Amino acid sequence: MLTEVTATRYVTPMREGGSLPGLVEADDLTSYVMKFTGAGQGRKTLVAEVICGRLARRLGLRVPDLVALDLDPVIGLGEPDPEVQELLKASGGTNLGTRFLPRALGFDPLAYTVDPLEAGRIVWFDALINNVDRSWRNPNMLVWHGELWLIDHGASMIWHHNWRGAPAWAGKAYDATDHALAPYGPDIAAAAAELAPRVTPELLAEAAADVPDVWLVDEPGFDDPDAVRRAYADTLLERAATIHERVTLPERDATPNRRAPGWIQGAGR
Ligand SMILES: Nc1ncnc2c1ncn2[C@@H]1O[C@H](COP(=O)(O)OP(=O)(O)O)[C@@H](O)[C@H]1O
Ligand SMILES: [Mg+2]
Repeated sequence: MLTEVTATRYVTPMREGGSLPGLVEADDLTSYVMKFTGAGQGRKTLVAEVICGRLARRLGLRVPDLVALDLDPVIGLGEPDPEVQELLKASGGTNLGTRFLPRALGFDPLAYTVDPLEAGRIVWFDALINNVDRSWRNPNMLVWHGELWLIDHGASMIWHHNWRGAPAWAGKAYDATDHALAPYGPDIAAAAAELAPRVTPELLAEAAADVPDVWLVDEPGFDDPDAVRRAYADTLLERAATIHERVTLPERDATPNRRAPGWIQGAGR
């Protein structure tokens, strides 16, 4: 279960982010980036955020705390932007909160180096969940207190849009050619040796149990929320075993210390 808190003030929309997340304050006196059930991307985006975010945390990757954030749309009545008004009105009830990391910087490959082991863990994890949203164009990583934090796992586990095709995803490849960490020589084999054995049925069940029931009810083809949770866990369990054999990385320059692809090497010249 996620901790449940209630939003007390809508502060401002986040400048970046296609789903129009907002900065809010909650009754635990903490600020959160709120992601809305009423956003066009739908509630499955939030399910993916919870399962993947909580799994990542349990595997030792840095992800901000997640909470179930209750919204009474009345708190946004003074909000001048009609788009935000609509979003708040459509999102009464349980939404997702990601603990706001104050003064975090967006990941900048020119300013921050990632060692191959850490890069490997993150690329392996993204391969496991089939995250298509960590490219160098849109890294969805923050640097906070000198360390790398992962955010935004909403565009992963594409198989949950068509459960009948889910079993086939266990054997499908992951294209990391455009991954933001591909230039750092990610050590996928080391990451798999370390992390794959830790992706047990118990761990996956724990991560899936964190998803609020309200985002899982009425899923076509399933009797109840727990059956949906099992489907998520089953697909990830199968994928964890061998996904490291099917990660495509870009061709690398053989010269050591010249790992960066052309777009980085050329930058600033
Ligand atoms: N926990 C956080 N702390 C600080 N900034 C955040 C946090 N979460 C998101 N952001 C900022 O908000 C932007 C949008 O959030 P994100 O989760 O990527 O939403 P979207 O799904 O709309 O892309 C991020 O690119 C980042 O700049
Ligand atoms: Mg994003």
